[in-house]
Amino acid sequence: MKILVTGGAGYIGSHTCVELLNAGYEVVVVDNLMNSKQEALDRVKQITGKDLLFYNVDLLDKKALSKVFLEHDISAVIHFAGLKAVGESVSLPLKYYHNNITGTLNLCEVMEEFGVDRMVFSSSATVYGHQDCVPFHEELSLQATNPYGRTKLMIEEILQDVYVSNNNWSIALLRYFNPVGAHLSGLIGEDPNGIPNNLFPYITQVAVGKLEKLSVFGGDYSTHDGTGVRDYIHVVDLANGHLKALEHVLNKTGVNAYNLGTGKGYSVLDMINSFEKTTGKTIPYQITERRPGDIAISYADPSKAKKELGWEALKGIDEICRDSWRWQSQNPNGYDTKLERQVTK
Ligand code: NAD
Ligand code: WQD
Repeated sequence: MKILVTGGAGYIGSHTCVELLNAGYEVVVVDNLMNSKQEALDRVKQITGKDLLFYNVDLLDKKALSKVFLEHDISAVIHFAGLKAVGESVSLPLKYYHNNITGTLNLCEVMEEFGVDRMVFSSSATVYGHQDCVPFHEELSLQATNPYGRTKLMIEEILQDVYVSNNNWSIALLRYFNPVGAHLSGLIGEDPNGIPNNLFPYITQVAVGKLEKLSVFGGDYSTHDGTGVRDYIHVVDLANGHLKALEHVLNKTGVNAYNLGTGKGYSVLDMINSFEKTTGKTIPYQITERRPGDIAISYADPSKAKKELGWEALKGIDEICRDSWRWQSQNPNGYDTKLERQVTK
């Protein structure tokens, strides 16, 4: 069975391609490499010993996208492609709306044209915005607090409307909490451009000596140690959640949102401590001002995914730290091996 993976060269997409290939699916990746490297897909092939097809296609190029559907009998789409940096979305909202929304509209139109009506979509816990109570469950009212989040919220609504217009569609809206970690092989992982915005790549880049010290954003939240609490989910657990959601959309119609999280919250200091304990590396840090827009606590109620998809996260924070460090230490410059050769020369 052939699955089209948009954004398959990216962080979560590449890990999902590994699990899809291991499960026996044929994989066709569409990615314009605007935030990824083709090397990631070579490594997916190396890990699995299996081949996949790659098209360097932008979802904004509807004609090129149609050609992929013309050439392949696609059974379902896993739709990762999108821009994801919250801060950048505030300064470049039109770029985010155009890329994420128009890209999704093009994809849905082409899918309709070719009679493909099964989709797993990368949404985000960001659609819960600021809530008064944790854990976050799927029935909470949604609110986005930045343009990136609004693209996710709008796409969720667009996909709901698509289903209402045609009940043959089957769509899973997967709301990820904080994806972290890397494949056990150390061959694929998160490779952010420039200085990382997110906690985990920042920690690993401090550990590898690329960055001097971590700024912990805020030490006065109402949490057990004053620092922000999040639900960190191992990317391989997340990838397996996509396979469960895929089975679900292949067998049933409807549109459903699922939280993909562990149900446990850890603070920034908990994560630093776990990283130091599991890797033996020291992470110098200082507590600074809160980051604007951050919330104190976010973690999932993952019971719906367990009940309806038969999925739950299996990996804990020590495994997350160990696997992130293996990836970062084996690939200090991410997929940029040319840079590595220059450095080691
Ligand atoms: P990523 O940037 O590593 O992967 C996204 C991929 O999509 C990249 O390879 C990029 O080149 C590609 N892409 C972007 N726009 C495209 C377009 N117009 N046409 C073709 N390809 C395009 O990001 P990721 O962390 O793997 O995230 C995957 C998805 O999950 C995104 O939609 C993101 O918003 C969502 N998500 C991510 C997180 C997270 O923290 N990583 C959390 C919640 C949701
Ligand atoms: C985690 C914790 C920070 C960096 C973001 C997006 C969200 C989703 C996942 C896509 C917070 C603290 C961070 C640093 C720190 N992405 N921190 N120093 O903000 O929970 O979620 O990624 O959908 O939409 O907003 O993740 O990793 O940035 O932060 O102290 O240098 O680490 O304050 O408490 P966040 P994060």
